[in-house]
Order: sequence, then structure tokens, then C-alpha cells
Amino acid sequence: MSKIIDLRSDTLTLPSDEMREAILSAKLGDDVFGEDPTVNKLEAKAAKIMGKDAGLLVPSGTMGNLVSILVHCQRGTEIILGDKSHTFMYESGGISAFGGIHSRQLKNLPNGTINIKEIKSAIRMDNVHFPKTSAIILENTHNLCNGAPLSPDYIADVTDISHNNNMKLHVDGARIFNAAIAQKVDVKELVKNVDSITFCLSKGLSAPVGSVICGSEEFIYHARRNRKALGGGMRQAGIIAAAGIFSLDNMLDQIRKDHKNAKRLAAGIDVIDGLSVDKKNIKSNILYFDIDKEAKQSEKLAQQTKNVDLYPFEVVLNNIHFFETYPSRFRLVTHYGITEDDVEKTLGVLNKMVN
Ligand SMILES: Cc1ncc(COP(=O)(O)O)c(C=O)c1O
Repeated sequence: MSKIIDLRSDTLTLPSDEMREAILSAKLGDDVFGEDPTVNKLEAKAAKIMGKDAGLLVPSGTMGNLVSILVHCQRGTEIILGDKSHTFMYESGGISAFGGIHSRQLKNLPNGTINIKEIKSAIRMDNVHFPKTSAIILENTHNLCNGAPLSPDYIADVTDISHNNNMKLHVDGARIFNAAIAQKVDVKELVKNVDSITFCLSKGLSAPVGSVICGSEEFIYHARRNRKALGGGMRQAGIIAAAGIFSLDNMLDQIRKDHKNAKRLAAGIDVIDGLSVDKKNIKSNILYFDIDKEAKQSEKLAQQTKNVDLYPFEVVLNNIHFFETYPSRFRLVTHYGITEDDVEKTLGVLNKMVN
């Protein structure tokens, strides 16, 4: 049977044999008591990599963002975030449901940024009619914006705005290592002076579970309480942390390969009549392509893919799986489970469908 080439997400990665070995041999303890040596090691390691005081293992990126925002924002205050941000789009409205936090959605530009002037003018003046603006979230890389990496300069500008206005800045860095590798910068440069960062172990880094949040000792103290309240205190969580340590030590090179594969996919799609891709803006492991509605050949692909009216949905072409995220807009994500050969096969299938 031929291999299923699953380009839906980098969350699909399976642990390698070596990673499984690391999990099996992890030293364990009760992490809610602070006694799991492997969790403690991962948290210290993550904090050092990010240049922060402390780290905290959480089950998911969603919980990492939520516990962080709950530290920064009081109920009834407002948070500025992008209209295409993961927190706004895909986290079940958790910040409103659990935090009573009002969201102010500003337009995300195609490069994942939010216009600086718009951020400044969205900050509320002190007036009884308005909620107080308490924080900003940036997403790096930006999932819905072609996996765009945000630059250290842009982040520094937004950090200044936040701090000059007595606000906090949280970075949803689910794929922060992709951002660092894409721009050839140390990851510390991308989180310098920000108040908190979430990064995921379970995406390009290929661990089965887990994310880590980093920040000051005080921030982590409060985040730990929030994690417990949300039911995220895990006991022998060293089995998760061991995979995370393995990821940080061994999987960064894979991210480089993923970026190369995404660029190759983009270049190959770019020359297929009827499909279009913003080739020059593919800088990490996520790419979107569109069916060019004017092109006749594309009808064929459109017929193959359009099954339902609800998005996103899974497209299966031969043995290639990916998402249609909006009508006629498709997402491909490269990861540890995708080889150079899979990329060529994918291009072959797309070509055949259209021509
Ligand atoms: C940018 C971004 N932030 C946060 C998350 C949430 O991570 P998790 O699925 O671990 O909750 C994702 C998941 O895909 C993501 O892409």
C-alpha cells in the first residue's frame, strides 16, 4: 500500500524510535509537587533558550496561551489581537469564556503583522465608557498568514508600545523555532522583553504532546496556579517532558528541512496553471495555494475538492491529504513525516488533477 502523504498539519508528527527511547528511560516524579526531575529539566532548559527566568510545561498551545492571558488580563479588560490569530480563530473563545476578556481584533496583514498605527490607535483612553486595554498577543510564525515569521524589529516595536502603555505582550510562538530558523536569528531575539511566550513541542519539533510557556518567576508562579485551576497539573509528566527535551536537542534540523520542502512545494505549485501561491512569502513550513477562478483547468481540481460548504475540511487526492481552509484556498504543512520524495509525489498529483 502506498504511503499516505498527510500535509494537513505539523501536529501529525509521530515520535521517532530515539524519542520513544528517551520517553521510556525518563526519570519521573509528581510534577504537581514539583518533583518530576525531567519536567524540571525541560522547564529550565526552555527558559534558558528563551532568555527568561522560568518555564512551565502545559498540555497544549491553547492552554499555554490561555493561562498566560489569564495572568496578564483582568476580567472586563480588553486584549488586542489579530483577526486571523489562532487565539481569536481557533481556541474556542477561551479567553472570553474563562477570563471574561474582551477581544479587540485588528486586521492581520499578509505578513502576519498588525499595522503599528492601528495598534496605537486601538489602545483605549481612560474613560468610564471603555474597557481598559491590558495586553497584546502576537503570533510567530503566523499560521493563517502563510506561516509568516515576525521580525525582531517588529516585535521590539510592539513591545515598546505595550510597555509604554502599561500593557503586557504575549507571544503565541507555537512555531517560534520556525520563525527563528527562517530568519536566521537566535530565538531569544524574538522574545526579548516580551512578557510571556508559548511554544509548542508537538508541532515542527515532533514531540507527541506539550507546550512550554516562559516568562518571569512571578509570571510563572501565577501561570502555574492558572494551569492547576484549568486541570492542567499533570503528575508524572516527565514522560512528556522527556520527548520535549529530545525535541529541543535533536529536531531543529528537521525544521530546516521542512522549510526547504515547503519552498520546493511552493515553487512546484507556482508553475501549475490554474493554481497560485505567494511563492516569495513562503518562509517556513506552511503554505497556502488558491485555485485561480479564471483558469479553465482549475475547474477539474475544484470539482475534486469541493465536498461541503463548511471549512476547513480535509481534501483527499489519491493518497495526498490536506485542508481546504476557505473556499478554493488550500493549506499544506511540511513536517517530520514528509520527505523530499513525498513533495515530488504531491506535485505530481496536483499537476495531474489540473492538467
Ligand atoms: C499558532 C498556533 N497557536 C496555538 C496553537 C494551539 O496549539 P495546540 O493544538 O497544542 O492547542 C496552534 C495549533 O495549531 C497554532 O497553530
